[in-house]
Amino acid sequence: MKHKIITIDGPAGSGKARIASYIAKKWKYYHLDSGILYRRLAYLILKNKIKLSDKKQIENFLAKTNTISPRNSIKLRTEKISKAASKIAIYKKIRNYINIQQKNIIQKELKNRGCVIDGRDIGSVVFKEANIKIFVIVNAKIRAKRRYKQLIDIGEKSIYAKILEEIKLRDNKDKKRKNSPMKVPYKAHIIDNSESFSNTIFQINKIIQKNS
Ligand code: C5P
Repeated sequence: MKHKIITIDGPAGSGKARIASYIAKKWKYYHLDSGILYRRLAYLILKNKIKLSDKKQIENFLAKTNTISPRNSIKLRTEKISKAASKIAIYKKIRNYINIQQKNIIQKELKNRGCVIDGRDIGSVVFKEANIKIFVIVNAKIRAKRRYKQLIDIGEKSIYAKILEEIKLRDNKDKKRKNSPMKVPYKAHIIDNSESFSNTIFQINKIIQKNS
């Protein structure tokens, strides 16, 4: 049997990772959260005391870094890393590097199971050939409220108004960048995740069953 690829794209805080993780559990798919790769790379760049604007040094760093782990970690979930990740995500060399990593991981996993990948450009650029493409939308205020709660839960002090402002800034950066801007992929199903998660899951299950 040929294994399937499902992509889930959408803005920060739209709940893509939660949806992807639900699909992975229900259908025994491998889940790759591509945002983690951008976050980990940003974390490593900062740890090596490289300026996020220093393209040359970043390129040297990429040249000597073979692979980066797609494993999640609480240290990657801070606002500092969110901002740093979206800053480095504008560079073509960074995107190419991460895209190669994603392709390698998924190629290996597809031998044994289906894969669900979430991010910003997964259905529009990285896995254009995906069997099912989903784009998640939620209004910025709801996303900011959810994000605020997540930050409080991991013990980071935060202010709702500031979170909302940063979510809007990050949306703009992701939508307006020249390289792989966030957009609804061709033939994607648009899912509104503003209501309850069970409502979202109901829509997702319908789409997957129809396309199985
Ligand atoms: O999804 P998450 O918020 O963890 O992603 C962090 C940042 O990484 C995003 O704001 C975005 O700038 C970047 N990113 C991206 N393309 C992806 C995944 C994440 O540009 N496929």
